[in-house]
Amino acid sequence: MEIRVLPLPQEKMKAKFSDESQLGFGKLFTDRMFIAEWKVGQGWVDARIEPYAPFSLDPACLVLHYAQEIFEGLKAYKWQDGSIALFRPEMNARRFNHSADRMCMPEVPEDLFLKGIEELVRLESDWIPTSAGTSLYIRPTMIAVEPVLGVKPSDHYYFYVILSPVGAYYASGFNPVKIMVEDRYVRAVPGGTGEAKTGGNYASSLKAGLEAKKKGFDQVLWLDGIERRYIEEVGAMNMFFAYGNTIVTAPLEGTILNGVTRNSVVTLASELGFKVEERKVEIDTIMADIGSGKITEAFGSGTAAVISSVGALCYKDQTLSIGNGGVGTLTQKFYDTLTGIQTGHISDKFGWVRKL
Ligand code: COI
Repeated sequence: MEIRVLPLPQEKMKAKFSDESQLGFGKLFTDRMFIAEWKVGQGWVDARIEPYAPFSLDPACLVLHYAQEIFEGLKAYKWQDGSIALFRPEMNARRFNHSADRMCMPEVPEDLFLKGIEELVRLESDWIPTSAGTSLYIRPTMIAVEPVLGVKPSDHYYFYVILSPVGAYYASGFNPVKIMVEDRYVRAVPGGTGEAKTGGNYASSLKAGLEAKKKGFDQVLWLDGIERRYIEEVGAMNMFFAYGNTIVTAPLEGTILNGVTRNSVVTLASELGFKVEERKVEIDTIMADIGSGKITEAFGSGTAAVISSVGALCYKDQTLSIGNGGVGTLTQKFYDTLTGIQTGHISDKFGWVRKL
């Protein structure tokens, strides 16, 4: 499909950031966005890149009432030679369509997903920050825009992509985060939408997140929704616990997100000489093993969070420091290797990098 590029008037161009160390996460957006529409009986039509601007939405439209919405997150990097690289965007395209299927939304053809992103990033390449730990975050999103109050799949959708130059996801920067294990609220149950990247999963996590924040924690670690016994994920990241050179993570059984970074860590592990076990682990075991020192490090993985060291875990009002509470050597190794591949400092044996 042809993508029309609409003019960007001078007065719509925003001031660019002057200090990359102050970027934070997702607060600033570039000058343009990509959008395509799906209409029943027509399919995908009118793909275009236009100036970034608010949408005018009918107050009755389905996304605003019944949350028929999905999204993705991926990043673009500007390499030292000036070239631009995306990291595993094909995996995001596949996961987007997996989410679309769960939420009864139309499939976005992979070439439209990739071409929309690539053309937009190319036009906005001046917005890609280059200092260590920064990147251009890409947020593909689909929303249901049919104005009707009956509960049903929409007959009209917007698929759009916005871009945001970002630094670290957590306010603490790259320092270890503190996580509270949530044992009252649940995020997902088998048969639910836990594996889909849909806004409702995040909206329903806010209450637990706020309560954790009040107690001084950065995020919550979810337990399984049936027994509240097995560890699942942290909402913005998948979790890994290291027992020396063996890392343990929750299995993909439909209730956690199939993270692109999680998948990359699992693949990189054997390359780096570590063993990965994807299996159910009880929170009681995790706490006992942190207490006894068997768990030597913990970290989370996610596109926004990259590899984030977890310095402390709190469960039922008992807070335990993990390892020495700082960034462990294995966590650092995964961070350095992954970001090294993404930024072109380490060669990409896996074919993960897609150059524009
Ligand atoms: C990402 O890591 O890209 C995500 O979508 C997580 C989001 C909650 C920031």
